[in-house]
Amino acid sequence: MEFICLTLIITGITFSTADQFAVFGPVDPLVTVSDKDVILPCYLKPKISAVDMRVEWFRLDLKDSVVHLYEDHEDKNTNQLQSYRGRTEVFKDELQKGNTSLKLSRVQISDEGFYKCFIQSKTWSDDITVDLKVEALGSPPLITVDGFDVSGGLHLQCESKGWYPEPELVWLDSEGVTLTSETTDKQRETDGFRVKHMITVYNRDSKYHCRVKLRHHMMETEIIISSKMFNSWRSSVILISVVSVLSMIAGLLIAVFIYRHREQQRKDQRLKSEDQRLKNVRERLSLIEKGTVKDLKSLLRKYAVNVTLDPDSAHPDLIVSEDGKQVRYEEQSGTVKDGDQKLNYKFNVRLCVLGNEGFTSGCFYYEVQVKGLNGWFVGVARESVERKGVIKLNPESGFWMSGLRGKYQASESPYVYLPLSVAPQRVGVFVDYEEGRVSFYDVESMCHIYSFTNQSFNKKLYPVIWSVNSAPLIICDL
Ligand SMILES: *[C@@H]1O[C@H](CO)[C@@H](O)[C@H](O)[C@H]1NC(C)=O
Ligand SMILES: *[C@@H]1O[C@H](CO)[C@@H](O)[C@H](O)[C@H]1NC(C)=O
Ligand SMILES: *[C@@H]1O[C@H](CO)[C@@H](O)[C@H](O)[C@H]1NC(C)=O
Repeated sequence: MEFICLTLIITGITFSTADQFAVFGPVDPLVTVSDKDVILPCYLKPKISAVDMRVEWFRLDLKDSVVHLYEDHEDKNTNQLQSYRGRTEVFKDELQKGNTSLKLSRVQISDEGFYKCFIQSKTWSDDITVDLKVEALGSPPLITVDGFDVSGGLHLQCESKGWYPEPELVWLDSEGVTLTSETTDKQRETDGFRVKHMITVYNRDSKYHCRVKLRHHMMETEIIISSKMFNSWRSSVILISVVSVLSMIAGLLIAVFIYRHREQQRKDQRLKSEDQRLKNVRERLSLIEKGTVKDLKSLLRKYAVNVTLDPDSAHPDLIVSEDGKQVRYEEQSGTVKDGDQKLNYKFNVRLCVLGNEGFTSGCFYYEVQVKGLNGWFVGVARESVERKGVIKLNPESGFWMSGLRGKYQASESPYVYLPLSVAPQRVGVFVDYEEGRVSFYDVESMCHIYSFTNQSFNKKLYPVIWSVNSAPLIICDL
């Protein structure tokens, strides 16, 4: 695990001569939706003019792969790939600022791939690769009642087309349980994938959903089958099957569609942006541990929660301030009365106190001020932790904590000592419940202190503090 406090300064590369430069672009894949325009970012550092340079964009994954060429002050696109004709552009006004980004208009599925941005001056050259991913969002799923079988089941078929890459199609019952499709069909067409699944249902008065999902996009259609319809279909089975099979199918190709796309799409949008945000946070937190992200504070504080301490849980020698924002140690004379109801909730040996509120999902973050204190631990604890006796404050016992007791340490078993070069004044605790992460940061220097990762949380987690200081440990307002 990681415990080195990394300095998050991206040191600039020093350039020995004026015409040397480095080329920069996006590190992560660029995802775009087909038919939209997209800018593939690429720029020089330092910001010197690229007007006199050769700017070549080409596909790494194709032969004869010129996408766009700018040379001798003009576009030279005679060898350009046919499929890019008329769709590419470098920003002439931006070149003098060292911005060699490429605009690609009306993105197609076939544009997905790796793009090299290669910049050459008379004496120097450098390049980067941009990974472009294209998504095509297909049609809303279409449900058709496609006849029935002799046992009285209805065949429901769901179809959706125009997706790229291949989407996932599922049938769900009214409880949201996935149903196994009897037949599934998928085809690759020029405008993306077409998928088709069929199920047979026997339940009256029920709802079925057909859902198509692609990464964080989702579309859903619902069909409601009332018992009245079902019965009349059933009786028609008997009736019509006597008459003619053909007319039966024709007569029953009446589809019952109830679209709820608008509402669903709004819901999806919210889910999607939350998902995406979480994904970004996770990616960036792992980058922080590698020392490459600067805006740590604002990133984490998006998840700030207002932690207050629960005096009922506190060890009798821990005095929690009225507003629940401070705790200090003060030895109490005498013992607490046995009959005290609240006694059960108290830590009786460990100098611990829990927060008032616990969390069972998502991310949360809080900061404490530990300036000048010489014995403290902060972190989170499971609601059900043992509160009596000499409990170990480690993950096995349901505590995920870091702090100072003689040395900086993470309360793993055995303890992991943290070689911090600067004493943190303020410590941030970040928890990602689903990912099983508890991370600690030095807020002032924006250094990552330590992370418990890959933990599995299945109980409520509470902020927890351990302190032996007569000076208060303060929970910061964010
Ligand atoms: C480059 O220019 C384009 C078009 O004006 C702009 O969208 C993009 O943000 C610029 N990139 C940089 C790094 O300045
Ligand atoms: C935190 O919660 C407490 C108690 O509910 C409240 O008094 C205080 O104003 C809150 N602080 C912030 C910053 O919201
Ligand atoms: C987390 O656990 C998974 C499966 O148990 C393992 O494959 C992975 O390497 C672990 N990751 C870390 C960072 O320990």
